Amino acid sequence: MNNTRDQWSSRLGFILAAAGSAIGLGAVWKLPYVTGTSGGGAFFLIFLFFTLVLGTSLLLAEFAVGRKTQKPPVEAYKELAPGTAWHWLGILGIISSCLILSFYAVVGGWIITYFVRSLSGSLTDPASGNHEDLFGSIISNPWEVGISHLAFIIVTIIVVQGGIQKGIERASSIMMPALFLIFLILVIRSLTLDGAMEGVTFFLQPDFSAVSGDTILFALGQAFFSLSLGVSIMVTYSSYLSKKDNLVRSASSIVGLSILIALLSGLAIFPGVFAFGLEPNEGPSLIFTVLPAVFSEMAFGAVFLSLFLLLLLFATLTSAFSLLEIVVSSVAGNSPGRRKAAAWIAGISIFILGIPSNLSFGLLSEWLLFDKIFFDQIDYLVSNILLPLGALLISIFVPLKMNRAELQDELLRGSSLGTSFFNTWFFIIRFVTPVAIIFAFLDVLGIW
Ligand code: TRP
Repeated sequence: MNNTRDQWSSRLGFILAAAGSAIGLGAVWKLPYVTGTSGGGAFFLIFLFFTLVLGTSLLLAEFAVGRKTQKPPVEAYKELAPGTAWHWLGILGIISSCLILSFYAVVGGWIITYFVRSLSGSLTDPASGNHEDLFGSIISNPWEVGISHLAFIIVTIIVVQGGIQKGIERASSIMMPALFLIFLILVIRSLTLDGAMEGVTFFLQPDFSAVSGDTILFALGQAFFSLSLGVSIMVTYSSYLSKKDNLVRSASSIVGLSILIALLSGLAIFPGVFAFGLEPNEGPSLIFTVLPAVFSEMAFGAVFLSLFLLLLLFATLTSAFSLLEIVVSSVAGNSPGRRKAAAWIAGISIFILGIPSNLSFGLLSEWLLFDKIFFDQIDYLVSNILLPLGALLISIFVPLKMNRAELQDELLRGSSLGTSFFNTWFFIIRFVTPVAIIFAFLDVLGIW
């Protein structure tokens, strides 16, 4: 289809882009609120376990498919399993990515709105009153959040239509470390608030009596979500990798960075929740009500809050790029003209698909589908059904349709790890991952 495929300029460029895809709202916005609604420490521990064992293994599996074939997902599955229905796995990934981006961009819009408001200092002003009421009034105003939702999508489209740009790689290398730094400052402030320890205990001390089947499925979905797994995005990104790169080392860096950010965000949020007498199980609004309160306790709070929101916006955008990139590269390959049209058509359609999610906190808040507002229903469908399903199919596909010796060669290339590492990985991907996912599904259905 094309013989001049883009490549990452360096291994670091790839790690930054893949970590940029992984690190985003999953760790900073979603993990705290899902931990809050799922009982705290036990959830976090199960999430960590799934991330380390199943997440890392699946990440390697997606890398192996992408780098082996050097093709976008649908083509990659076609090449590895010609004449079968397996290319539907690529299509499933594209559909799931569109659904994720539809609600992801809504939250991206909230961040833009908060950023704009924080510039005036009004969010951290003690006179601004109750942060929960403020959040409620902001997100239920369809125009303000509608415009920032659209703005978020447009920025995503503009960057993605230009291809894998040097700009993203370079900007990530400054903004990601800056995000870590400001997170550290925030964590220190949070941990020194009066009553902070209660939050740390909630976040890190497991209480397994709070664990149900749903908790396990949520933790599994969250682990896949925060590593961008199950939708073949990592297949897409690794298809631009050079044959020389060491996949295991890249995967470990990506998993390590995501876990670090997840820990930091829990340590930033939960002490604040308890210190200010808020409820940890408040749902998607959690960080938007807690963070302004924590920042308002700091010297130069307004400046730090604006800076934090700007960096979070950036982390959110780099994840959104990957979600649109998979759609665009699948339909347009590398042809610049077609990329442009594909990016706009897909981006605007995803914006429209996201409108009911956006309105479900305001105009459509009474409109329930199976007991959940539209936004929550789409998130549940994607995170707890489509992502684990995609992951299950990938973990069946890879050992079944790829040659074991070739897999070993792909994964161990350039690394000093030996056959025993490969054999362990192969065992996890072949048996442990599918069995764990199937049990999590059965458990929720009440069958097991
Ligand atoms: N991982 C990103 C986050 O945590 C979101 C994301 C980007 C994603 N691409 C994905 C989630 C693919 C699932 C699948 O914010």
